[in-house]
This record gives sequence, C-alpha cells and structure tokens, in this order.
Amino acid sequence: MTGFKGMMEASAAERRSKVVLALDLWGPYDSRLARAEAVLQATMDGIAGVKVNQHLLLPYGLQGLKGVIDTCRKERLPLIADLKLNDIEATNLNAVESLIDFGFNAVIVNPFVGRDEGLGKVVEWVHSRGGGVIFLVYMSHAGSREGFGLRLQGGEPVYRVFAERARGWGADGVVVSAKSIETIAEVRGVVGKDCLILSPGIGAQGGKADTWATSQADFMMVGRAITESDNPAGALRSLTER
Ligand code: XMP
Repeated sequence: MTGFKGMMEASAAERRSKVVLALDLWGPYDSRLARAEAVLQATMDGIAGVKVNQHLLLPYGLQGLKGVIDTCRKERLPLIADLKLNDIEATNLNAVESLIDFGFNAVIVNPFVGRDEGLGKVVEWVHSRGGGVIFLVYMSHAGSREGFGLRLQGGEPVYRVFAERARGWGADGVVVSAKSIETIAEVRGVVGKDCLILSPGIGAQGGKADTWATSQADFMMVGRAITESDNPAGALRSLTER
C-alpha cells in the first residue's frame, strides 16, 4: 500500500499504536512551541502520526514549525494539517501547495465546499504529490448534529452525504467522532475498508478509549488528554493500553 494510507499503516505497525497525537498546546507564545516539541519527543515512540492545528500554525506558521516537521520526517511519522479547509479552489490549492512543500503529508478538508471549484482539484493535486486528503464527516462536539447531523429533504443526514463524497472523490480518510460508534459503523459501510477513519473526541471531550476500541475506526486523534498531562508519555500509554 502506497501513499498516505500506506504511510499511516506502516507507522502504526512500527510503533504498535493507533494514536494520532493532536499537538495542541496553549499558553505563552515564547514557550509554547518548545513545549510542543517536548511532548512530541516524549511520545513519538508510541504514536502513529501527528496532527497540527491552529494552536501552532497561527502563531508560528509553516517556517516556524520546521523543528516539528523535521522530527516527523526523520521519524517517518505522518504529519497532518488540521485546517478543515473550506474555501474556493484557488485558495485551497494555494494552501495545500504550501503544506506539502513544507513537509506535511495530509490535510483535513470540509466537503461542504463542494467538488467543482472547491475540492476536486485539491484531491488530485495532493495525490499527485503523494499526500493524503481527509474529509470531515462527523464532528464530536455537541453542536455537530446541528450541521453534520442535519437531514436533507429525502431524510438522508449530511454526514452520510459527506461520507459518500469521501468515497466518490477519492479521500484517503474521514474524520468521524469517537463518541458515536454507531456513526463510525454507518460511515464505514459507506466509505469501505480502503478509507481510513480517524476519530477525535476521546479524553477531554468525554469519549472513552475502551468503547472506541470496539468500533470500526482505524485511529484515534487525541490532544488535551496527552498534551495537558504532567506526564504525556504516561497519558499516552494508559490510552494505548486500553
Ligand atoms: P482533544 O483535545 O479534544 O483534541 O483531544 C481533538 C483535536 O482534533 C481536532 N478535530 C476535531 N475535534 N471533533 C473534534 O472534537 C472533530 O470532528 C474534529 N476534527 C478535528 C480538534 O480541533 C483538536 O485539534
């Protein structure tokens, strides 16, 4: 298996982990990045990948994240940009070009924006560079049902349409809340076995690792339960043991 999915599977097998570390740090800007790098160093032997969000991307930008990016490249840890990309094609293409050029391996996008002049060419371009595109399908916060859970006139929920888009448009993965193993099962039925399911919501948002472990998801994406712990490696271990 090649491409982003192959990279994730190889990394997961090598480190015996299904955890994607959401490197979400708060606090003073002059120490935040160093703290993020320390959490990465402390956990990198037990994670399958790394996800970076606005917590680091906004204050430091792609150039400022060189240390994190270099560590991930050296360790062959897949690096995901959580931008939930949601703009017109020209802007989306510009964003993914920067991300891939700087060393990211995948980007999370919002399929709400559509295929024509939205995400169609983004998927093609990222694939042409060996990267991956992950579609947001069902979020884990309470308000998710107000958007992703809306029903179309025929009764089909929006998240199901997004899962169909993921399959039809060639997404490498989808994000589905860890807090609903029923939704994960439903989405698995739509996207098939070749599309990764990545689940946030465990720990700080109340989702349980034990319950998630019985689901059909491939990876859990965990931030605060690890990044805000006094012992990030220990927090990671207790998640993976479960
Ligand atoms: P925590 O600290 O809650 O961080 O473990 C989760 C990370 O995943 C990002 N993210 C999502 N979070 N539902 C979420 O709760 C989603 O659908 C989702 N998609 C991505 C979140 O922004 C944080 O970085």
